[in-house]
Amino acid sequence: MCGIVGIIGKENTTDILVQGLEKLEYRGYDSAGIFVTGKNKEDHLVKSLGRIADLQSKITPEVQGTVGIGHTRWATHGKPSERNAHPHTSSNHQFILVHNGVIENFEELKQEFLQNKQLEGETDTEIVVQLIEHFAEDGLVTKEAFKKALTVIKGSYAFALIDKNDPDTIYVAKNKSPLLIGLGDGFNVICSDAMAMLAETNHFVEISDGEMVIVKADKVEIEDEKGNVVYRESYEAQFDLSDIGKGTYPYYMLKEIDDQPTVMRRIIREYTNTLGDAVIDKKIIEKLTASDRIYIVACGTSYNAGWVGKAILEKMTNIPVEVHLSSEFGYNMPLLSEKPFFIFLSQSGETADSRQVLVQITELGLPSLTLTNVAGSTLSREADYTLLLHAGPEIAVASTKAYTAQIAVLAVLAKAAGDNKGNQLSLDFDIAHELSVIAAVMETIIDEKMTISQLVEDYLSTTRNAFYIGRGVDYYVSMEASLKLKEISYIQAEGFAAGELKHGTIALIEEGTPVFGIITDQKTAAHTRGNLKEVESRGAHNVVIALASFAKETDQLIIPDVHPLLTPLVSVIPTQLIAYFATLQRGYDVDKPRNLAKSVTVE
Ligand code: G6P
Repeated sequence: MCGIVGIIGKENTTDILVQGLEKLEYRGYDSAGIFVTGKNKEDHLVKSLGRIADLQSKITPEVQGTVGIGHTRWATHGKPSERNAHPHTSSNHQFILVHNGVIENFEELKQEFLQNKQLEGETDTEIVVQLIEHFAEDGLVTKEAFKKALTVIKGSYAFALIDKNDPDTIYVAKNKSPLLIGLGDGFNVICSDAMAMLAETNHFVEISDGEMVIVKADKVEIEDEKGNVVYRESYEAQFDLSDIGKGTYPYYMLKEIDDQPTVMRRIIREYTNTLGDAVIDKKIIEKLTASDRIYIVACGTSYNAGWVGKAILEKMTNIPVEVHLSSEFGYNMPLLSEKPFFIFLSQSGETADSRQVLVQITELGLPSLTLTNVAGSTLSREADYTLLLHAGPEIAVASTKAYTAQIAVLAVLAKAAGDNKGNQLSLDFDIAHELSVIAAVMETIIDEKMTISQLVEDYLSTTRNAFYIGRGVDYYVSMEASLKLKEISYIQAEGFAAGELKHGTIALIEEGTPVFGIITDQKTAAHTRGNLKEVESRGAHNVVIALASFAKETDQLIIPDVHPLLTPLVSVIPTQLIAYFATLQRGYDVDKPRNLAKSVTVE
């Protein structure tokens, strides 16, 4: 949610900022801007509505400098416009600021400190840059003025500030929003995500909430809230530039769908031994198996993966599992059991809604585990334990491989915990073998792209709405399938428990309404077929996605059999491709759907 880059100490600052912003576009893409300057250099502020490509077309050759900051925006306060785009400047143009996050008390700050300032736009960020100027006018040096501003600000932020009278420094601070420092030889960079600056360095330093960092070309100094200097080791990024390219694919989403068999095999390598046992840190298993209830907390696609995780964990461990939306849990915490264990699912590890729940339950002293794709992310650092998804960078806004990776890692976790409890189903479950079958079946489905594209043309080309229905795990996959379809193709889609449809929602079925039925479970196959008949009688155009054992010849997509506990890992694949082709055929941007961002770092 909003991306920040910055660099100090290199000549080709403008190019580096723009290339960095391109890598961060997944975080927001409604407007963008850069500020570039340097000792004895002119100042250049370029902003644009729209994407980084729009910004780039406004950058002229003389926009050069040795220090600069850049920003790509996902609007919160103030509509997307050039005026509201970052960087923001103070009234006398001395201070230039980019911000990711939300300042909650910006109205109060305006009233208290800025009555005499002429404000340009509608953003909360502008208040902060004016506040810094206000404190500087009171006689404070830049660092102290920035510090003082931080003491009165309430909310989430990652800031990068330049004082153009002293262009040897970028001042940086963060609270709840992510920001990293990248270390170079004779230069240093800042970025919301290491991906943005991988072309420059792969050595990064994390910043903790409440710290301020003074970034110069030849040194980086971190200070804690009390002004003490903090020494922190850098770490090496675990991926390189080739991991974040599209290769020959037209869209990241298609590449990421195709990546899934490889990800399954990587998870087998990372989490199982040659005997086929699940290998998970014993401490995690002890804590989990000592609990009387597991609470899975997540948002979006991760939340949908959580429901599948519940089905697997309950069967393998006999521990009840509840699945909660982070944004609801945070403010309406359910009554907790005596010995709860929390699992946070988050591809990015940065989702603010999930983080605020983690903060609350940590304060209560409750144990937590984060499953995330991003090592060193906030949710990973702040939870007691982490299991990485090993899915490789996921860049398309619509999540695909992180969903299947989350389910696979949850299955490994369930297997390790189930074995620990002596659960027979778990002891009989050869996780390494079953996941390798999954990888092979995924490949078979991925090879059916032409069939799926044709189905989309036949059933979804003009429709305004569509339904996915199923029971049990097929219902859980229906929720994810419909989210995928609506978020990128803008077809209004609902995932519904097949048996519940007749209790109201069936009223929406009209002549030609597409209804996709998912059938992978013996217990419910006949019932879901019955529900499909009910909608067909009312004019629906049905498409059936069925596991071979329960399929009929007339079913449109038949999936080879896999272990009954793991069917979501394969039944979801055609639904991802359906969303992809529906979006392509409607002419929308598959990777960057409107109004969305991949990493949502505001509540
Ligand atoms: C955003 C993304 C979704 C994602 C959700 C949760 O809304 O657009 O694709 O599922 O955040 O993200 P997380 O990183 O916590 O899994």
